[in-house]
Amino acid sequence: MVPELEKATVHMKNPEHVQRVISALRKEGTDKLQVISDFDMTLSRFGFNGRRCPTSHNILDNSRVISEEGRKKLKDLLHYYYPIEIDPNRTMEEKRPLMVEWWTRAHDVLLQQKILKSDIAKIVRESEVMLRDGVNTFFDQLHQHNIPLFIFSAGVGDVLEEVLRQAEVFYPNINVVSNYMDFDDKGVLRQFKGPLIHTYNKNNAVLKKTEHFQLLSSRTNVLLLGDSMGDLSMADGVANVENILTIGFLNDKVDERRGKYRDAYDIVLEKDETLDVVNGILCYIL
Ligand code: C5P
Ligand code: MG
Repeated sequence: MVPELEKATVHMKNPEHVQRVISALRKEGTDKLQVISDFDMTLSRFGFNGRRCPTSHNILDNSRVISEEGRKKLKDLLHYYYPIEIDPNRTMEEKRPLMVEWWTRAHDVLLQQKILKSDIAKIVRESEVMLRDGVNTFFDQLHQHNIPLFIFSAGVGDVLEEVLRQAEVFYPNINVVSNYMDFDDKGVLRQFKGPLIHTYNKNNAVLKKTEHFQLLSSRTNVLLLGDSMGDLSMADGVANVENILTIGFLNDKVDERRGKYRDAYDIVLEKDETLDVVNGILCYIL
């Protein structure tokens, strides 16, 4: 029913379960569906021509508004903490305090840089960020069918919104929860608005103040997209989930992490830089 599921990048532990959920999503229609997605390395590309693409944080880290010293500090933090983030041999409980440490230290460096709100658009334009192939079809389909898309990101909200704006896909059906910057009255970055969102607290705890999911209480079918094991809790705030299909992009350390990803996500996409499978499923169910 979805030819894209035959792609070599697709791995499913239980294909019958996937077929059942896709059939249910199609049968129950667009009124009951909502999509919840991670941003960095899920909607944006992980790599291009053998090079890593930047996360929303990296867009800032690598930009010209950061001093050389600041850039070095941010790179050192990335090289120290990123391997911990994706280490399959540590539990989320072990990783959590270390992720808080990473985000806090990185944000502290960014705060020393006097970043201007008015610079964000230029910083994004001059960056090497890329969205996944098929991203226009993805956003257009959801927009046309009025399906709410909730982007839940531990990245930088102001930056990721600007990426979507420049790609001309930031439609009104999109809601973003992320780490937003707070600027003073001269437009200079002075702090990040709380609560801090990192890879392993993307759940109801940081959503308490948003009534987002309550407004969508009739949408009990969920399509969830992520690239981290931490993304699987993004739908925890949805009351009365009837059917959920989880799709996980396995971008990095594929051999080491394959087993855990296949156990956790309904569909695992290994080294797949496209949204083909997601679009194929949406095309079938909408
Ligand atoms: O949108 P998403 O939730 O994926 O954003 C978080 C990602 O940003 C993490 O997976 C992490 O690797 C990356 N990150 C970063 N620099 C930081 C903190 C996080 O590139 N200072
Ligand atoms: Mg991500």
